[in-house]
Formats: sequence, structure tokens, C-alpha cells
Amino acid sequence: MQYIKDLLENNKQFVEEHLQKDPAFFEKSAQGQQPKMLWIGCADSRVPPNEITKTDPGEIFVHRNIANLVVQTDMNMLSVLQYAVEVLKVEHVVVCGHYGCGGVKAAMGSHQYGLIDNWLRQIKDTQNYYWQQLSSLSEADRFNRLVELSVIEQVYNLGKTSIIQNAWAERNGPFLHGWVYDIGSGYIKTQTSMINNEETLKEVCKFEMGIIGH
Ligand code: CO
Repeated sequence: MQYIKDLLENNKQFVEEHLQKDPAFFEKSAQGQQPKMLWIGCADSRVPPNEITKTDPGEIFVHRNIANLVVQTDMNMLSVLQYAVEVLKVEHVVVCGHYGCGGVKAAMGSHQYGLIDNWLRQIKDTQNYYWQQLSSLSEADRFNRLVELSVIEQVYNLGKTSIIQNAWAERNGPFLHGWVYDIGSGYIKTQTSMINNEETLKEVCKFEMGIIGH
């Protein structure tokens, strides 16, 4: 129980610190949100979006799942995406993966973990798709590269949703980004350039697809 008491105590400090910086911080917060970014990240406890980008409450709209996947039949993700893009009109959508991702690691092996194997299936497909470039790497390098390639695939999946396609046609936005967070150093490595139309989406993915040749 001490752990829970500590968290609630921390919450009081959080309130005090924000009020010191801006006495009206919570009044403004209660009036609404205008986040500039939607973050689609891994549920991993080591990758907290606000902390690693030094942003405040209200700045990033967040969706997290295991291994930061964009699955086009996932109503949860699609609902978050639609609200963020069409109502909040975010300027950026980032898919942020991370090295050492347990979901990607699990997908690389043949061991069964249960229900989650079905969720991670798409990462196995990515691994198969890029096998030509992955097979020549050491296991550690292959793990890192698959994390990066999976992020690029998720950006591509995002760009193919009707929500993003319609937004691009209407307002040339939002920009899509693929990032990988290095849990061992704390730094974010960008994996894509800014993408806000079909051409730049193809450009990013063509580079990767050229390597596998099919
Ligand atoms: Co992860």
C-alpha cells in the first residue's frame, strides 16, 4: 500500500509544481484540449510520451497498444485516429516504436504466448516481407531493424486509412512520422521524413520496398 500512497503524494506535488509555473494551468485545462500531435506508441512502461518529449498535459493525444501497431480493423485505434484528425485537427501523427520491444521480440520467435500471438501476427508478416535484408543480420541487429521496419509499416498503414486519406485531400495534413525511441540512451531516432500526401508516403516506403524486390 505504501506504493499507492507514494503515487497519490506525487500527484499533490504534480499539482503544486504546475500551479507554481502557471496558477491558471488547471482552469485552462478544464476548458478543453488543443493537442498538436497524436501519438501512437507501445504500452511499454519505459516509453512515456510526455516525459520523453518534455511536453505538458494537453499537448499530446495518446493511443498505446502492445508494439505500437496500426491495425486497420482495430476500432479502438480508428476511433482515436478519427477524433484526433477530424475533431481535434492534430497537425502531426507519430508512430513511436522502441528498441527492446517485447512484442517485436515475441513475434521473432516461434514460442506461443496465447492470445497475444494473434495481435503480434502482423510483425511476423513484416519480418517475412523484409526477410531478404533481415536474414543477413545478427540476431541483435535483426531485432533492432525489425523494430524500425515495423514502425515504417505502421506509418504506411496509417497513410492508407480513409481517415488520413480524406484529411490529406482536405487540408494537406496531418504530417505522419515514424520514430524509434532508444530505451538504452533516451534518444528518439526518426525513421521517416515528414509525410503529408500519397507521394511522400510512397517515397518513404518505396525506399524500403526496393530492397526486397517484390
Ligand atoms: Co514495446
